[in-house]
Amino acid sequence: MSNWPSWLPLSERLRPLSPYGAPQLPAQAVLNTNENPFPLSGNLAKAIASRIEGVARNLNRYPDRDAVKLREGLASFINSLSSTSITSDNVWAANGSNEIIQSLFLAFGDKGAIGFTPSYSMHPLIARVTNTEWVDGRRREDFSLDIALAKEEILKCTPSLTFITTPNNPTGSSVTISEIEELAKVVPGLLVVDEAYAEFSDEISATTLIEKYPHIVVIRTMSKAFSFAGARLGYLIADKSVIDALFLVRLPYHLSAITQAAAEVALEFRSELLGNVATLVSNREKVKGELIALGLSVVPSKANFLLFSGFDIPAPVLWKSLLDAGVLIRDVGLSGYLRVTIGNEAENALFINSIKAIITKQD
Ligand SMILES: Cc1ncc(COP(=O)(O)O)c(C=O)c1O
Repeated sequence: MSNWPSWLPLSERLRPLSPYGAPQLPAQAVLNTNENPFPLSGNLAKAIASRIEGVARNLNRYPDRDAVKLREGLASFINSLSSTSITSDNVWAANGSNEIIQSLFLAFGDKGAIGFTPSYSMHPLIARVTNTEWVDGRRREDFSLDIALAKEEILKCTPSLTFITTPNNPTGSSVTISEIEELAKVVPGLLVVDEAYAEFSDEISATTLIEKYPHIVVIRTMSKAFSFAGARLGYLIADKSVIDALFLVRLPYHLSAITQAAAEVALEFRSELLGNVATLVSNREKVKGELIALGLSVVPSKANFLLFSGFDIPAPVLWKSLLDAGVLIRDVGLSGYLRVTIGNEAENALFINSIKAIITKQD
């Protein structure tokens, strides 16, 4: 938006921006924001409601400012995934990982940040909002990360924050743990590994490197594999000194007692909540095969979505035709590509049947 009223003292750096806006449109199959399609069970919903009822009596008081119990639960979850021995001192929690990202820029953004595009669009956007200089690093044509080139670009701009998203959004591509270690050896400042989709991938988590490389910071979220996007809970695993620094920029009582209670219950039900990850991974491969059978190209993905190309019509036209057929997917602004989140069986079938009908009609 550029026609702000002249009397509005809006910061110059914000004037050219538009608010984040994945369309929230009604559709039969909502496959545009990489959510988990499986709703919470009745049992879990009841357990959350009952825990919140307990908390509700104390809503006259501020919540635990440091969310210690929740951070302990998150530490124990992370330790159960790989051979780490982190404690609550190594964990920070916030309202979605977007808030975590904002806190990182506020605390550590002085010397700027670099990420490798195409990647998660909110990294540069939150950088801009927090007045952090952002550098767009490059990927190979096939969207994989060229580690040698990445190192060169990092050393050229010497930022205080280097972002690696793995699996990467919107491409689904991932980097190996040895590639992360290679980067850690040269990165100045902090190496931020955004692992929002890690549960869908078989790569080893960068949390396993933090003890050896205390400047590695790992971002995770309950919004994807945990089926908990509506609760807004993101977290970060890092050396204690990183967490201590985040205390300087967090707002007092930023995480409500209700959010903390709901997330604690979700962690207790983690095997149930994460129970659908294997189904989503196998359905990802099934949908990928079906798109390829239609003559389309699909970027190899280790996340819960696929980036595909090879259609003859402009991406926005295909996006709109799919929406007309009841399927909402994502135009990520990459010419010739669209991204689809893996849904439940019925949603995936509707997507494949609709795209087949649209593409066939064009031929
Ligand atoms: C790579 C990546 N990081 C972070 C987020 C933010 O997730 P949330 O704020 O819901 O935790 C997303 C959401 O799509 C994402 O794709």
